Amino acid sequence: MLQKNAALNPGCESAFSFAPSNIALIKYWGKRDELLRLPGNDSISISMGHLGAEARISITNSSDHVFTLNNKQLAPDSNIARRTSQWLDAIIANDKLKFSVAITMNIPLGAGLASSACWFAAICKATARLFAWNISNKQLSILARLGSGSACRSIESGFVHWHAGEDPNGMDSYAENLNITWPELCVGVVMVDAKEKKVNSTEAMRSSVETSPLYSSWASESCNAKEKLLAALSVNNFSVFGEVAENNAIAMHNIIETSDPRISYSLPGTVTVKNKVRQIRDNGVGVYFTQDAGPNIKLLFLNKDQHLLERVFPGLIVVSPFAHNYNSITVSASS
Ligand code: PMV
Repeated sequence: MLQKNAALNPGCESAFSFAPSNIALIKYWGKRDELLRLPGNDSISISMGHLGAEARISITNSSDHVFTLNNKQLAPDSNIARRTSQWLDAIIANDKLKFSVAITMNIPLGAGLASSACWFAAICKATARLFAWNISNKQLSILARLGSGSACRSIESGFVHWHAGEDPNGMDSYAENLNITWPELCVGVVMVDAKEKKVNSTEAMRSSVETSPLYSSWASESCNAKEKLLAALSVNNFSVFGEVAENNAIAMHNIIETSDPRISYSLPGTVTVKNKVRQIRDNGVGVYFTQDAGPNIKLLFLNKDQHLLERVFPGLIVVSPFAHNYNSITVSASS
């Protein structure tokens, strides 16, 4: 698609890059074009600091692309290997070039922690380095989106806005940084189950769009929610911010659960965590939850409540998205 005559970056035999995972505060749910991964609505995310993927890419003499995840080779017919091969073939447009891609990731794959977002964003950035493409983050975001929609939001860090766009070829559907910092803001991950989900988000989105009676109002409701969230962000109003994000996640799961046949990403443990969040909030603690296409829960809170929440949710993984510069970090594999 980009490189008809791919030329390597001189002196560069391999290239690597880190991309953070991201959690949507206003969710993207439903595609207007599945092939180009164009969303039906704008979304806003917060990046996950040190949680993400590091990709190292080089050209290989093998007859096909080779992928490793945390030093283990992936089966070529696994879902993520197939998707990534298709993406590389489409982007490089030279089927003679085969790549070795080594990913180190500190979150589980396919458990609703936006692993595909950091996976494709990291590979996209590393590929651009390997070929010394002189392209903007907007263009990288568009390329990453072709691998996984939410990957377009993992090119940048911090608060990121993905413009759904209107152009049928998707050139106006990209994500950009909102240039807002909130140093006290924390995101916590409560792991309920790290197993790969049974229904992937593309299938679940299709089912929601085609069968859920609640989907018709999703685009306008999420647009209103986006405006409220942006207003809350501009004045660091934490309670409005948390409430809008939590309600948006609930609305998305109501749509998913009213599709036919019914899909649910929640396990009993998921419900327990959400109830606990509501309970401690009723007792005056500023904490809200969000949930993606998986059973795990992400908490939104301010750093003053970190210790208390670590006691309530043992094993809580805490991320401070604005505490460091996460562009050049070393990732250790998740166990
Ligand atoms: O990018 P995908 O196809 O994995 O879909 C992501 C969907 C949600 O995580 C549920 C919402 C979002 O905006 O990230």
